[in-house]
Amino acid sequence: MTRDIVLTSTDIGIHSHEELIGRINTLKKEMNALILAHYYTVPEIQQVADIVGDSLALARAAEKNDADVIVFAGVYFMAETAKILNPEKQVLMPDAYAGCPLADSCPADDFRTFKRQYPGAIVITYINSTADIKALSDITCTSSNVEQIIRQIPEEQQIIFGPDRNLGGYISRKLGRKMILWQGYCYVHDAFSEPYILKACREHPDAELIAHPECREEVLKHAAFIGSTKALLEYTVSSSAEKFIVATEPGILYEMQKRSPRKTFIPAPKDPKTPYSVCTQMKQNTLEKLYECMLNRKPEIVIDETLRLASLGSIRKMLEMTPV
Ligand code: 13P
Ligand code: SF4
Repeated sequence: MTRDIVLTSTDIGIHSHEELIGRINTLKKEMNALILAHYYTVPEIQQVADIVGDSLALARAAEKNDADVIVFAGVYFMAETAKILNPEKQVLMPDAYAGCPLADSCPADDFRTFKRQYPGAIVITYINSTADIKALSDITCTSSNVEQIIRQIPEEQQIIFGPDRNLGGYISRKLGRKMILWQGYCYVHDAFSEPYILKACREHPDAELIAHPECREEVLKHAAFIGSTKALLEYTVSSSAEKFIVATEPGILYEMQKRSPRKTFIPAPKDPKTPYSVCTQMKQNTLEKLYECMLNRKPEIVIDETLRLASLGSIRKMLEMTPV
């Protein structure tokens, strides 16, 4: 769902980009606010954020800070996680309709029924899920720490993993560990397919293919490196390769290019049968909406206290199992 009114700087009485940035910075000080942004947001948002990171880094930043207000430029589950961890803080997001279709692909009632089929199983859930799903889970994880968490679960323990089947499948193959997978997927990462990835590799024989584990197995099997958004970024800095085909959301190319200005980054081509390999929800975060949400202190994340407490346990467990 997208908002039908797209605000422009002129609509809010601001006439230059510099003026808008200046007003955001002034409000930030006045409110004692912390602006968090995911790597998939547009560069202007990343430039104004206090912390830019992947899901794990942002969850950790949301957990430990002295701000009174957290402004979360990402998607809904990220801001919701920040609120679950900080009930006393005001958590704002520029566009409350910036949801995550992967999280929405796992309705709580269906997941409850699914879970009932495996009564002895432990439930490990990707952070890209709703608070209701986190409340039904034992441990939350992100693509950065999923492996570290699953390695700590005894071999004989049955695991339900959801909602991303590609991430679950990847880790299951990597660790030789059978898991019961919920069949959700991220439309952005699932948009890459083998023939078009191989075509790109043929066109750029000097480039290394790197991929996020939310991509399909048919893509991952050709990758020189697989990792979370942050791991991919760090790999491009440390690798001796000069050119990369990047199979993840292209927002990360901004930071990759910034850290390695002389290297070349090619966004992986999507399969023409799929509509997007860009996260349109992340791109709903604009500077104008960021300013407006700070000015009006809304949209604000509000969560029922019973649900908050029920979902907090699985997030806390993740943070305890993977200390910094
Ligand atoms: P990470 O930030 O953990 O790499 O996850 C990617 C993603 O799709 C976020 O929604
Ligand atoms: Fe959700 Fe995929 Fe967008 Fe991440 S990139 S927010 S998983 S739709």
